[in-house]
Amino acid sequence: MRDLDPNAYVEDRSPGTGRLRPRAAFASDLPTIALDGDWRFRLASGLDDLTGDFAAPDFDDTAWDLLAVPSCWQMTGLPGEPRYGTPAYTNILYPFPVDPPRVPRQNPTGEYRREFDVPDGFPASAAVLRFEGVDSAFAVWLNGIRLGDGKGSRLTTEFDVSAALRPGRNVLAVRVHQWSSGSYLEDQDMWWLSGIFRSVSVAARGVEDFFVRTAYDHTTGQGTLAVDVTAPARVSLSVPELGISGADPAGPHVIDGVEPWSDEQPRLYTGELVSEAGERIPLRIGFRTVAVVDGVLTVNGRPISLRGVNRHEWHPLTGRTLTEDTMLTDVLLMKQHNINAVRTAHYPPDHRFLDLCDEHGLWVFCEGDLETHGFEPGGWQRNPSDDPAWREAYLDRAARLVERDKNHPSVIVWSLGNESGTGANLAAAAAWIRQRDDSRLIHYEGDFASCAYVDLYSRMYIGVDELATVGRGQEAPTADPADDAHRRALPAVLCEYGHAMGTGPGGLSEYQQVIEAHPRLAGGFIWEWIDHGIARLTGQEDPHSFYAYGGDFGEEVHDGNFVADGLLFPDRTPSPGLVEYKKVIEPVRIHIDPATRQIGVHNLHHARDSGYLDFQWTVEDGGEPVGSGGLTVPATAPGTTTTIVWPADVTAALDAARKNDSGHEVWLTVTAVLAAGETWAGAGHEIAWAQGLVVAPAASPVPFTPAPAIAHDGYIALGPARFDARSGVLIRLGDLELDGPRLDVWRAPIDNDLLSAFGEPQIGAWLAAGLHRMRHDVLGVEPDASGLTVTARLAAAGSSSGLGVVYRWTACDTPNAGQARLRLEAVVTPDGPWSVPLPRLGVAMSLPGTDAEVEWFGPGPGEAYRDSRAAARVGRHLSTVSAMQIPQIRPQENGNRHQVRHARITTPGGTLLITGDPVIDLTVRPWSTEALAAAAHQHDLVRDGRLHLHLDHAHHGLGSTACGPGPSAPDVLAAVTTAFGVEFGTSR
Ligand code: GAL
Repeated sequence: MRDLDPNAYVEDRSPGTGRLRPRAAFASDLPTIALDGDWRFRLASGLDDLTGDFAAPDFDDTAWDLLAVPSCWQMTGLPGEPRYGTPAYTNILYPFPVDPPRVPRQNPTGEYRREFDVPDGFPASAAVLRFEGVDSAFAVWLNGIRLGDGKGSRLTTEFDVSAALRPGRNVLAVRVHQWSSGSYLEDQDMWWLSGIFRSVSVAARGVEDFFVRTAYDHTTGQGTLAVDVTAPARVSLSVPELGISGADPAGPHVIDGVEPWSDEQPRLYTGELVSEAGERIPLRIGFRTVAVVDGVLTVNGRPISLRGVNRHEWHPLTGRTLTEDTMLTDVLLMKQHNINAVRTAHYPPDHRFLDLCDEHGLWVFCEGDLETHGFEPGGWQRNPSDDPAWREAYLDRAARLVERDKNHPSVIVWSLGNESGTGANLAAAAAWIRQRDDSRLIHYEGDFASCAYVDLYSRMYIGVDELATVGRGQEAPTADPADDAHRRALPAVLCEYGHAMGTGPGGLSEYQQVIEAHPRLAGGFIWEWIDHGIARLTGQEDPHSFYAYGGDFGEEVHDGNFVADGLLFPDRTPSPGLVEYKKVIEPVRIHIDPATRQIGVHNLHHARDSGYLDFQWTVEDGGEPVGSGGLTVPATAPGTTTTIVWPADVTAALDAARKNDSGHEVWLTVTAVLAAGETWAGAGHEIAWAQGLVVAPAASPVPFTPAPAIAHDGYIALGPARFDARSGVLIRLGDLELDGPRLDVWRAPIDNDLLSAFGEPQIGAWLAAGLHRMRHDVLGVEPDASGLTVTARLAAAGSSSGLGVVYRWTACDTPNAGQARLRLEAVVTPDGPWSVPLPRLGVAMSLPGTDAEVEWFGPGPGEAYRDSRAAARVGRHLSTVSAMQIPQIRPQENGNRHQVRHARITTPGGTLLITGDPVIDLTVRPWSTEALAAAAHQHDLVRDGRLHLHLDHAHHGLGSTACGPGPSAPDVLAAVTTAFGVEFGTSR
């Protein structure tokens, strides 16, 4: 029965029928007809609801809607109500029963129609119809003639239209099915979206295909160029810059003294293929040779280190339909943040993205459109990867990946796909790629246990200790000794690490140190580039915008905000994680040694010397610049270090600062900036920096004469402060009304607290210990002649563990420079059994206000935590409470300023001064921790009229536990006896 079914193609495993063989994406001066724009559209609910005669040229579609092509139909209507179906998010699970190759008959199907004119002179008798991306299966009719059908959502499909295309009016009809057998191969961790989401065109057919093969011999400086052309007519090659003119493309052309292509210097030579028939095809040629040498990943004879990201295609309003502008924004942002590599997770991107990678310089792991992760929960039973019935589909996807993108110098590695288990079809796909293109390496993480068909030992989310083991070549052996020998000879990459979900990731510096210590480690790719939040408006009268995540569209199975795990927020503003990553992976490392007055510059580049950078110095005394100038650093070759003695001007600035004796820290900052503009950033753009503490403040405490604490009716006065007589809580300092501080150990759980891909999430133990419901019980409030002692115990109902705390308050009767001073010494002593780390350890308080100006001296300007603080530099920073909040898609603990020396919080009601002893972590927000923890989206957060201040001795590290390891041992905050101090003051 099914064979007679005209819709059988939806569920059969065939990759398509009637299609042309895959070939390179290239521009040509032959005419094309762009078919992007408004199409007629109807969304059928399933295969039983199709429009019978919709492909007929004279079908009346005037009552149908208009839908933009390209687009994902579920994104239509956003940020308001989606008009056609809704987006749905799952990470691993298929959103339908796993019964391959069958999919539900309730299969939303878009019926698209479009009329277009073929102008006079268009060679209609030799033309192709090109779809660059249709999700997930489709069938095509031109002028009522069925051309064929296709699958492979993120791959190009072309049909020969020579027999069907006619001059004048043409009618194209396309039926697109949300689900198909192909969906089983497209279970990537992302929103399920459907439709004709990339461009459609009709193109005149001339040169069929070509393969630009290049090599660079670093020992001779020679480049080799050979272009394999498939064409009906003779074709010649010209590359004027290389002295090639009207030559046989096949060559091989051996050219002396070519400049090689690399991420750092993406040298492209402009050329042209010209066919006898007059067709001209522009070329951009990059010379490079990728090779594994002694187990090290090299390009052009030199090792490369991937400082990469995994990039999904994402836009919060249009889903996986991107404009070229958005692609450019991504490339520029990557380059501006020292990123040099991108893995196109987990499908080939819009081909224009690769043009931009060629042009601006990014190493690309170009990945096939393949993931079958949803078979894992069923023990990989019936996994297509090892089922001969799916072999053709796998080979088809591999061929379409390689053929489309083979001419990009930026692509150095083909990746078979992601998380599809193991099996013969993957091995066959790798073998096919190897015979077609031996100039690149093959990657597939799923083959890590044996590495039988890959050229890179790829791992995801392993911790730094295991990474170091891999770096040393001491990983556990494979089952088969032959595989083992092969794998040990391979370079290793982290295809995913540093899961950037929510606040974090922590630990990036540790990874980078390990990567840089072992030549076998070729670097890695952060998971992932951008949060896939969907822009929405709340339906209320005064709508608020927010970013939706899994579950927000009523999906019956979903993975919540696991889809929001990028270094960019959905609107492409960098998160603190990206700022941190930029610092961690800086390609030039500066080291300041105040003792010897030396500045070292270590060049971590692949091939570029440091001559393109300007070095500058600044000396700041307590954050005030007291001197600055240029530094002459000789051009430093890759892999080498230059050390200079800092110039006399620096010493003079320091001497002046010493003389001035401000009592502040004096820091020398050295920066490396672009000396001249690059294609991706202007002159002056900062690449790297370092700081050195060059004058430590003399330890000469300001005299402090303790004032007596005097009990009054209901309150206790201590210098400028008033305490509640019963609770011992500070209620006033000078004119400023306060509430607190009280010992606090809870944080609004971050994603890394709530989730764990590889073990028990931290939150379970925390909730079991009652850390979210600790009660502060005051045991004693004792004023005396030199201060006030408040004792309390923080513990949860039902728990026999607690934290005893003694607050010792002293005040200075002799205000310093008009500033009232109040000192708190807190001693925290755990009692009972404590087996869980504390989320934070500090005090919390509040003051009236909805916003305030915050000025501090210490690391900044951004958020920093103990295991994510490389990017914060010591200085004087000015911000506001509003600006200090990090708008995580799912609200959670955020915005900490780490190791603050002193801060000033200015509200309309007065100014609170805070001084660490010697440092304190500072978080201030216009809502409570409880409100932050309870909020599901940013618009749930409402200012409550108080500024909630957290002064922390320490935080538990961030880690990347949601998918990866937790914080390293030194960043675990154990419950141990701890003393810390902070001083308060006010000023008007
Ligand atoms: C990996 C997977 C990615 C993504 C990530 C978690 O296992 O390859 O696609 O799901 O985990 O965000």
